Amino acid sequence: MQTRVSSMEDIKDSLQRAQPRVVPLVLLKVFVLFLPLGVGFSALSLYMTRNLKVQNVVFQARAGFQPCVEEQSSLDWWIRPPSNLMHNMSDEELLWRASFVPQVKKYPFKRVPKIAFMFLTRGPLPLSPLWEKYFKGHKGLYSIYIHALPSYQGNFTSDSVFYRRQIPSKVSEWGQMSMCDAERRLLANALLDLSNEWFVLLSESCIPLSNFSIAYQYLMRSRHSFIGAMDDPGPFGRGRYDLNMAPEVNITQWRKGSQWFAVSRKPAVSMVKDTTYYPKFEKFCKPNCYVDEHYFPTMLTIESPHLLANRTITWVDWSRGGAHPATFGRADITETFLKSILEGTTCPYNNQSISVCHLFGRKFAPSALEPLLQLAPKMLGFS
Ligand SMILES: *[C@@H]1O[C@H](CO)[C@@H](O)[C@H](O)[C@H]1NC(C)=O
Ligand SMILES: *[C@@H]1O[C@H](CO)[C@@H](O)[C@H](O)[C@H]1NC(C)=O
Ligand SMILES: *[C@@H]1O[C@H](CO)[C@@H](O)[C@H](O)[C@H]1NC(C)=O
Ligand SMILES: *[C@@H]1O[C@H](CO)[C@@H](O)[C@H](O)[C@H]1NC(C)=O
Ligand SMILES: *[C@@H]1O[C@H](CO)[C@@H](O)[C@H](O)[C@H]1NC(C)=O
Ligand SMILES: *[C@@H]1O[C@H](CO)[C@@H](O)[C@H](O)[C@H]1NC(C)=O
Repeated sequence: MQTRVSSMEDIKDSLQRAQPRVVPLVLLKVFVLFLPLGVGFSALSLYMTRNLKVQNVVFQARAGFQPCVEEQSSLDWWIRPPSNLMHNMSDEELLWRASFVPQVKKYPFKRVPKIAFMFLTRGPLPLSPLWEKYFKGHKGLYSIYIHALPSYQGNFTSDSVFYRRQIPSKVSEWGQMSMCDAERRLLANALLDLSNEWFVLLSESCIPLSNFSIAYQYLMRSRHSFIGAMDDPGPFGRGRYDLNMAPEVNITQWRKGSQWFAVSRKPAVSMVKDTTYYPKFEKFCKPNCYVDEHYFPTMLTIESPHLLANRTITWVDWSRGGAHPATFGRADITETFLKSILEGTTCPYNNQSISVCHLFGRKFAPSALEPLLQLAPKMLGFS
């Protein structure tokens, strides 16, 4: 350091010595003229180097660090799910891409069907430790997608099932078409993985009510998709129908149900590709219509009624009355409480009666996590 400083000073000294005391005016003018040019040029080259580097990183991330030359010539290229969920497709591009459907029914490769768990959330997933346990040991049978506020950056570590599972998102509001848009965005991203056969919509307050194996069998063997679709003659049902929706939507086809669905691939494709009913709902299901309670149940009832169970598999408690269902916290979570959710009811399933009615439940506060983790082995069948 010492020697470098002194040598620098030596150089400065020698420069000063070499220069005449009075700089000629012409030289000064030339200097003043070229200074901004020089500064500009170095700024430009700095920017270009940085930008090139960024582009290179983005490219490598997209390609998943794999060479992308020979790939298109093998089947693998066509059936491999996207390696990076953070694509830059617009909604229009994404929905179009997601609507691709193979016309040959038999897959010419070993396809292990998966369940896509689609979390529609504002930000963090406070119950994620419970879900981590739920998914443990079932790799290859599920995939996870998270739609959060665009500003939210999840901080899951690389050993988490939620790591890098966030999809490009937009702000969505309850009761607005933007909520259905978010659900379609989740479906479309999940459809890009050909292995996904079931598509379950969940929120940050949802919990599993069985273990993964039970849920997997329940869904894979079901002939019907689970979405509430009720014909309610009252003011909050048919009362929300607008005659302007005819002829695409008749009042006899108007349905209502909670937004938390679990649908198989065929209805999922109908939901992302729809351009017939969407404009009608967007235009005439507002305000106080709560489009997210009507759009998918009605649309699917018209398009494929035979594929619908017309009931949900997500348990919720409306018994307290009011505009919102009950939320359960630490003090509520007891064996008796969980038993009351899990037992004592029967539901139609593949045209038979079954005692397992719900695979998921809402709404659970973050404080419910600890007692749920404790009771999960005994009550929910996983640890
Ligand atoms: C996505 O990126 C490509 C290449 O960088 C660009 O041409 C395209 O316009 C982008 N699309 C969107 C929707 O931003
Ligand atoms: C993520 O951030 C939240 C708060 O922002 C924090 O409570 C949590 O511990 C963080 N998780 C990890 C895995 O870093
Ligand atoms: C709507 O349904 C009713 C009863 O099924 C029927 O009489 C009527 O013709 C339908 N309207 C349209 C436009 O399909
Ligand atoms: C659900 O309702 C539709 C009519 O809205 C009906 O066609 C279908 O059979 C029902 N599904 C079951 C499983 O009963
Ligand atoms: C099951 O379907 C048969 C006809 O396919 C019908 O006769 C029977 O009532 C159905 N059972 C139940 C429980 O819905
Ligand atoms: C899942 O739960 C069922 C019923 O509680 C139980 O019989 C089964 O052994 C559990 N499966 C696993 C893999 O733990």
